[in-house]
Amino acid sequence: MRLHISDKVSLRPFRHADRYDIVVGINDWQVVRWLASVPHPYRIDHADAYLARPEHKSCEIAMADPEAILALAICADDRVVGGMSLVPATRRSGFREVGFWLSRPSWGQRIVPAAMRTVIDKVRQCAPDTSFLASANHDNLRSQRLNLSLGFTELGQDEIFSMPLQRRVTVNCFHLMHRYVS
Ligand SMILES: CC(C)(COP(=O)(O)OP(=O)(O)OC[C@H]1O[C@@H](n2cnc3c(N)ncnc32)[C@H](O)[C@@H]1OP(=O)(O)O)[C@@H](O)C(=O)NCCC(=O)NCCS
Repeated sequence: MRLHISDKVSLRPFRHADRYDIVVGINDWQVVRWLASVPHPYRIDHADAYLARPEHKSCEIAMADPEAILALAICADDRVVGGMSLVPATRRSGFREVGFWLSRPSWGQRIVPAAMRTVIDKVRQCAPDTSFLASANHDNLRSQRLNLSLGFTELGQDEIFSMPLQRRVTVNCFHLMHRYVS
């Protein structure tokens, strides 16, 4: 499976050979500090444990299944520069919660907004009534602006434990309701 975002950028399932690119991208405090459940420092054994997870074997099926985890590598010229995921939302049953990261040299090129639009469209081709949740640390303005630019609306705040920060943080929550809600 491959989703083309541009001539250079595409989305595909992660592979074992991506392990070093994942570490280069995530073992960067300016990236990991915003990711709730990712350890820091991020080592090669963390990447190996992540790549061993079952969601990497079933991307096609996970597009349509709100109970499944969808994990996709964001690639530039087929080298991993980021990742995105959809997980069953714990805050709201039936919603799919989005997550994303991009290595710092790739920031500011609208790569994640374009990738998110493509995935949301693709998921809704399979399951038109899908609704999405997103959350971002209250001071992660880049991620919040990205969510708003995709049409997400603010829901309020919550508190989570941040693994990289090793403390509880306030997050701003967003939702994108399915098309047929009036
Ligand atoms: C968040 C992230 C994925 C953004 O990806 P990207 O492809 O670089 O997105 P862009 O910067 O092109 O666009 C994001 C929006 O943020 C805005 N933005 C950029 N820098 C900003 C800043 N310092 N403050 C506020 N908004 C900012 C952009 O203008 C754009 O909004 P717009 O379309 O309304 O103009 C990337 O910065 C990242 O990986 N950050 C670290 C991990 C992270 O925060 N993940 C999300 C966890 S909730």
